[in-house]
Amino acid sequence: MATTIRQLAQMKRDGERIPMVTAYDYTAARIADAAGIPIILVGDSLGMVVLGYDSTIPVTMDDMVRHTRMVSRGSSNALIVADLPFMAYQVDSNEAMRNAGRLMQDGGAHTVKMEGGVAIADTVRRIVDAGVPVMGHIGLTPQSVNALGGYRVQGRTRATARRLLDDAVAVQDAGAYAVVLECVPSQLAKVITERLSIPTIGIGAGPDCDGQVQVFHDMLGLFPDFLPKHARRYATLSDDIAGAFRRYAEDVRSGDFPAEAESFTMNEAVLTDLLDG
Ligand code: KIV
Repeated sequence: MATTIRQLAQMKRDGERIPMVTAYDYTAARIADAAGIPIILVGDSLGMVVLGYDSTIPVTMDDMVRHTRMVSRGSSNALIVADLPFMAYQVDSNEAMRNAGRLMQDGGAHTVKMEGGVAIADTVRRIVDAGVPVMGHIGLTPQSVNALGGYRVQGRTRATARRLLDDAVAVQDAGAYAVVLECVPSQLAKVITERLSIPTIGIGAGPDCDGQVQVFHDMLGLFPDFLPKHARRYATLSDDIAGAFRRYAEDVRSGDFPAEAESFTMNEAVLTDLLDG
């Protein structure tokens, strides 16, 4: 049985911190699941780290369904959260409901995530009422990067901090079971975490959130030249992978690969017969 939203609520009550990572395919999901990660997010960050766009804005519902399906096939224990991408829930709440349903029925997600606070609270409520658990996402909401004027910390002034508090309460009141706080000052994230009864999951929101989320490619060092301030690198896979490719290319060029152990043989008599014939 996968992690449930009731268990997450209990973890907050018990003060047990919640680790969450992103994954975008079957292999990554298998590894995260086997490592005991309780929540896997199929983030629309896949637009940047998998599809090579410079923002999450071009990501489509078809992209999200395809990658969510890969992840849900690879995981049996983690709660699978899938992002509703840009404009999949802002146009009207009927379309939002249909798209949330697609992520669950076609993608195999257990829950969906939506960016926004007060402005999307009514839509969140309708989706939750239809039986789809919703994780909120406030602070730096990357789908609004153009409206925000860049990827910048949110809630540093009295007015914007007040707005973020209102957003957090609005998504909780609308029925969200958890909320991501992205790039929010630690002190404000602590206030929000104490104010809410649902778990907060931080990314660039300091140590006092109930959980933390990291992007797969950041934490595993798949982009050697770039690490956001809020990320910690737990491996440098780009170096390991590049080194493996270089050694492989050398072995092919020198004739060292494949060796006998990596090759197949056939019966000599069959070969002789073939050549004689
Ligand atoms: O898409 C994503 O990876 C996210 C996380 C940064 C929270 O939304």
